[in-house]
Amino acid sequence: MAISTFGFEFRQTAQDGAARTGVLTTPHGEVETPTFMPVGTQGSVKTLTPEEVAATGARIVLGNTYHLWLRPGPEVIDKIGGLHKFTCWPHAMLTDSGGFQAFSLADRRTVSEEGFVFRSHLDGSRRVLTPEVAMQVQGALGADIAMQLDICPPGTASPREMDEACAVTTRWARRCLSAKRPDQALFGIVQGGTDVRRRLAHADELAAMSFDGLALGGFSVGEPIEKMHEVLAEVAPRLDASRPRYLMGVGTPTDLVRAIGAGVDMFDCVLPTRNARNGQALTKQGRIVIKQARYKEDFSPLDPGCECPTCTQGYSRAYLRHLFMAGEVVVLRMLTEHNLHLYGRLVREARAAIAAGRYAAFARSWLTKDVADS
Ligand code: GUN
Ligand code: ZN
Repeated sequence: MAISTFGFEFRQTAQDGAARTGVLTTPHGEVETPTFMPVGTQGSVKTLTPEEVAATGARIVLGNTYHLWLRPGPEVIDKIGGLHKFTCWPHAMLTDSGGFQAFSLADRRTVSEEGFVFRSHLDGSRRVLTPEVAMQVQGALGADIAMQLDICPPGTASPREMDEACAVTTRWARRCLSAKRPDQALFGIVQGGTDVRRRLAHADELAAMSFDGLALGGFSVGEPIEKMHEVLAEVAPRLDASRPRYLMGVGTPTDLVRAIGAGVDMFDCVLPTRNARNGQALTKQGRIVIKQARYKEDFSPLDPGCECPTCTQGYSRAYLRHLFMAGEVVVLRMLTEHNLHLYGRLVREARAAIAAGRYAAFARSWLTKDVADS
């Protein structure tokens, strides 16, 4: 059964083991899954134009409620008709709710049943983020998909805190569904840490509600990465197959290959863009730290198998290293494009492999190489 909310629909198209392909139909076009969403926290995928982002194969990007709420403010974005118009991104868009900033900016907020109270990281002002406010702000931003407000506990949280986070997240789920814009899709966020039973119980609670998709939050928050994959292998395939499954904030190319194998459809992560700005190029053969002296006279491209403009134009590792050492900002764009092309290629090849029933072989071809884990 496909679930539809005003032009929003998910349809599975192939399956190979737990891995699957699908098509996500949104008011801003179709998105083939598995898909990777580049992160555009403040309304831009750092260093790239929307055209350059689309050229990497991305057909959906992620925006952030918390940051855009504080600056420039939802009123500004609403005035021009939403985040699509404001940023000139023509394809699909998803906004995160701000729940994760309550984790990453934990020293700047308090939490109660009502919601979060933040001290703005920009001017210190007091800002209250309730489920209703999160939906109102996301309504003004007007992304195709909004996320519920949730509580993302740290990996070190006690079982009691984990249970409480799930309980509050469920109550906030109901409030978000009541406050959402009827023409926007809304995803619920499953929490529960690394306990499979708690995860499955929370997934059941949220799956009983009219969410258009189900996300797995609270991963990559300090738990061992092997533990995450162990839990994903148990939980992801059991999430309602009629709805898209979104693993939030993950991960390396290896993480994507493994999670796709567990049945995940959507990902976002700052890794390819953030690591690029730190001088790291990811390739299928491993990670290149461009400032290393070994590249000083290396006149080969980053990755001869890469289709990105940086690699196909013939820019050498030696030149990129020189630009990075000299503080020339264009190299940050070149590395970002390269990394996002790698993620674009990974999900494209994964889709083809699933459709052809050879996902296991595809996964081995990526996993046997030392792919860029950080
Ligand atoms: N991004 C990464 N993890 C999370 C999470 O648990 N919740 C939210 N809202 N966003 C995330
Ligand atoms: Zn490249």
